[in-house]
Amino acid sequence: MQCYTTHRDPVVFPDPESFSPDRWIKSNGGTSEMKEAFMPFTKGTRVCLGKNLAMMELKVITTIILRRFHVSIAAEMTMEDMAMKDHFLLFPQGKKCKLVFTPRN
Ligand code: HEM
Repeated sequence: MQCYTTHRDPVVFPDPESFSPDRWIKSNGGTSEMKEAFMPFTKGTRVCLGKNLAMMELKVITTIILRRFHVSIAAEMTMEDMAMKDHFLLFPQGKKCKLVFTPRN
């Protein structure tokens, strides 16, 4: 079992290729099927040991960055750059994800 296909089950996640964080908000934190299928840290006996630490770090770091900067996509980035490339782990096809950080007043 692996995350890539599970996270793209169109029955659970309609239009799975679209980046749509709203799907979690609209369903009030996710339907029971979405919660069951969502497993970025995998599940079971070999589940990621750092899951809780990673979730906390992601929330703290994202909050600190977004409070200090307005973040936008660099003009030179294209949709093709961000297409996913499977290399055991996924990475963006263009091998870059350039963002612009503008300090907030
Ligand atoms: C967003 C961040 C992270 C993601 C998405 C992630 C994801 C994963 C995944 C998919 C596995 C494989 C589980 C399996 O084999 O079924 C794993 C294993 C593991 N992760 Fe993470 N991880 C993250 C952060 C961390 C952090 C911060 C730590 C430690 C501080 C950590 C420690 C470990 C360890 C020790 C294992 C091996 C567990 C085992 O085989 O028993 N991970 N992680």
